[in-house]
Amino acid sequence: MTRQIQVQLGERSYAVSVGAGLLAELGPAVAALSAARQAVVVSDSNVAALYGARAADSLRRAGLGTELLTFPAGEANKTLATCSNLYDSLFALRPAMDRRTVLVALGGGVTGDITGFVAATALRGLRFVQCPTTLLAAVDASVGGKTGVDHPAGKNLIGAFHQPSAVLVDVDLLKTLSPAEFAGGLAECVKHAVIGGSGLGSTGFQPVQAQALPLNRQYQPPPAQVENLCHQSLMDFLETRREAVLARDPECLTELIARNVAIKAAVVSADERESGQREHLNFGHTIGHATENLVGYGAISHGQAVSLGMVAACRLAVARGLLDAASAGRVEKLLVALGLPVRWPGLSAAALWEIMRHDKKARGGKVRMVLPVRLGEVASFEDITEQAVAGAVDCLRVQE
Ligand SMILES: NC(=O)c1ccc[n+]([C@@H]2O[C@H](COP(=O)([O-])OP(=O)(O)OC[C@H]3O[C@@H](n4cnc5c(N)ncnc54)[C@H](O)[C@@H]3O)[C@@H](O)[C@H]2O)c1
Ligand SMILES: [Zn+2]
Repeated sequence: MTRQIQVQLGERSYAVSVGAGLLAELGPAVAALSAARQAVVVSDSNVAALYGARAADSLRRAGLGTELLTFPAGEANKTLATCSNLYDSLFALRPAMDRRTVLVALGGGVTGDITGFVAATALRGLRFVQCPTTLLAAVDASVGGKTGVDHPAGKNLIGAFHQPSAVLVDVDLLKTLSPAEFAGGLAECVKHAVIGGSGLGSTGFQPVQAQALPLNRQYQPPPAQVENLCHQSLMDFLETRREAVLARDPECLTELIARNVAIKAAVVSADERESGQREHLNFGHTIGHATENLVGYGAISHGQAVSLGMVAACRLAVARGLLDAASAGRVEKLLVALGLPVRWPGLSAAALWEIMRHDKKARGGKVRMVLPVRLGEVASFEDITEQAVAGAVDCLRVQE
């Protein structure tokens, strides 16, 4: 069954479709965009080899002029130099390539961020469609319109807000993802579970809007179905469906991704440009980013660092009297069950604090953190002290 979630952003609204076998629908989905004649698929070297031909085939069958551009896989290539090569290849396609050309990002978050940035800037803005192939990109990076590349001075320092015209998640493509990459996506799912819960209740989120329907059709949720999807929180879902999630059962992945997208979509709809509520998506990422930076990119994955960051943020919330210890324990237990680390050897709280003070999200040297007040609700705090962080980081140390 295909599920569809609307990201409500006025004239920039778009649908996220999730289901098995959806790569075959890529052509019809792009062809349905007004005046689309040509599609240019951008993919990294790994994903292009696996799925590039199938994507191009679907686009050609839908009558679109189709090109496939690739770049070498890896975060190290999320650079302006890669974009520059892509601009060269794109402009070599003129005059067929023009402002009606639609870019398709086929790959993980690196591909989505690069393609989105090229789309935002080439000819002052092209439309693009996200076709995420990692769990992280499906539940997080492909929705929300943040695009960009890294700079030697830091990650994601160059970029633009540019929303996709559609997002198509084929859960079958996640089968070839390595267990480590898959676990990285699960860390972001736990993040959503803590910030957004079921999508119901006092947090202002809209109910999950999802049902089976053809692509690009205006959608009205039948109340019974919404009820059905929402009665269980994402936290409960991850706990009870853990085995099916880890086995990458297509139905289960469809449900999991739809729930996550609904939470992210609600946050993005409420605060597209991160002036308020969107900051909540940073839960686990303040200490997480600092840990990634301290341990070293390559020595720890983003998902592992975020897992540790969430454990520390929960501990900090318990120490402040915001969260009960049982809830913090529940988050930790779930992370372990999903194959994510909750302890790490040799973390220095002082070194982490120094990095946190210089984070691009710190304001005037003040460290801000998103902390859970219960499972399913978080709030931002800007009075975070070095002592509080030291206490929380202490819990991450491997017991000797
Ligand atoms: N724009 C946003 O809102 C946002 C949010 C979160 C993260 N990000 C960005 O996303 C990036 C991380 O994304 P990622 O974890 O998807 O990394 P990635 O795109 O580098 O993909 C990880 C690896 O998996 C491979 N791969 C992708 N799909 C595959 C598949 N189906 N089968 C086999 N291999 C596959 C890739 O080739 C790559 O080697 C970071 O650059 C981060 O800054 C952006
Ligand atoms: Zn993250």
